Amino acid sequence: MKTRQVHLVSRPEGFATPDNFVVREVDLPVLKEGQVLVENLYMSIDPYMRRSMEPVATDLPPWPIGEALNGPSIGRVVDSRNSKYAVDDLVESMSGWQEHFISDADDFVAYLSPDNAIAKRVLANGAEPKDFLGILGVAAQTSYFGMMCAATPVAGETLVVSSGAGVVGSVACQIGKIKGMRVVSSAGSDDKVAWLVNELGVDHAFNYKKTAIAEGLKAGCPKGIDLVLESASPEHFSACLPLMNEQKLLLIAGFISIYNSGGVVRNISNFEYVLDRFLTIKSYPFMAYLDAYDQFVHDMLSWRAEGRMQFKEAIHEGLEAAPAALCSLFTGAIHGKSLVKLKNYV
Ligand SMILES: NC(=O)c1ccc[n+]([C@@H]2O[C@H](COP(=O)([O-])OP(=O)(O)OC[C@H]3O[C@@H](n4cnc5c(N)ncnc54)[C@H](OP(=O)(O)O)[C@@H]3O)[C@@H](O)[C@H]2O)c1
Repeated sequence: MKTRQVHLVSRPEGFATPDNFVVREVDLPVLKEGQVLVENLYMSIDPYMRRSMEPVATDLPPWPIGEALNGPSIGRVVDSRNSKYAVDDLVESMSGWQEHFISDADDFVAYLSPDNAIAKRVLANGAEPKDFLGILGVAAQTSYFGMMCAATPVAGETLVVSSGAGVVGSVACQIGKIKGMRVVSSAGSDDKVAWLVNELGVDHAFNYKKTAIAEGLKAGCPKGIDLVLESASPEHFSACLPLMNEQKLLLIAGFISIYNSGGVVRNISNFEYVLDRFLTIKSYPFMAYLDAYDQFVHDMLSWRAEGRMQFKEAIHEGLEAAPAALCSLFTGAIHGKSLVKLKNYV
């Protein structure tokens, strides 16, 4: 059997382009005892993947040149020689960037396998397979676990969220509102700012390309800042520091701005406020809080059903669209969680 995979043909310097990738047809081996054949339905496109294009390891090994890439995907078992998996079972894996793959079934995301109990419960409640990469995916988990586990949202306090129209950012803004916080956020276009205020109910938002970050934050935070969820840049993080109230917390989910320049953090300023105001800075992996996964699924799906959690998606059609989708994460052109649809789910 043949399938198609996306391979890396070169490593970018600066911004990645679709020319760094190629789609190739490859032969799949015959299924052996214990293995399953999976047809991917959707794959996730995430900012960290730009870091996987670097030649050196970050928190993940570099993507190889000329071989199948990896990334989150949700797929359906279409052939099985493994007693734990039946045809039509859903599996979440790190085997995205290809239409089909063969697996020994030992690397599937644990909470969906082996008995598919959570998947069945979630799907029975009106969710779709793509939701496991979207509203229930890693970026949403990062935001939820940050807000609900790493931090304690307090009603009436002020939350600042960078990249408010991004996945991590938009979920954090809405959790802040659900928990009764004053929410202040920024985004890179007037349309995204309008969405934050008019659709998500953010109290104050500004376009950081038009308004100096320090000015935008000052205007939105007359009582100072009590909690930050940072995912944009060292510059945004630094601008928060002089406005922080004493003994408060800054969570760092990531700095997307550094991913195209070697991943080195430069331009941190105002650090003296960390000492003067006794601040806590915390970075965290979403895996640290997987004990709360069931509660996360419950809350996110309930909030969506109640109309309190909007989750925007940008669906790209077909494997060929994946490279451009990744490159466009860094231009601000995309609004919503980027997913590539590989196959209809019926
Ligand atoms: N720790 C973890 O486990 C974990 C998990 C998931 C994600 N993350 C991190 O969280 C961050 C956001 O991820 P996401 O999935 O929410 O991304 P996303 O939804 O794709 O958001 C990307 C947005 O970031 C903004 N952006 C792009 N380049 C920028 C730059 N140079 N400066 C400022 N903003 C820029 C753009 O919005 P604008 O148009 O508004 O500029 C873009 O639409 C990333 O740093 C990611 O690596 C961490």
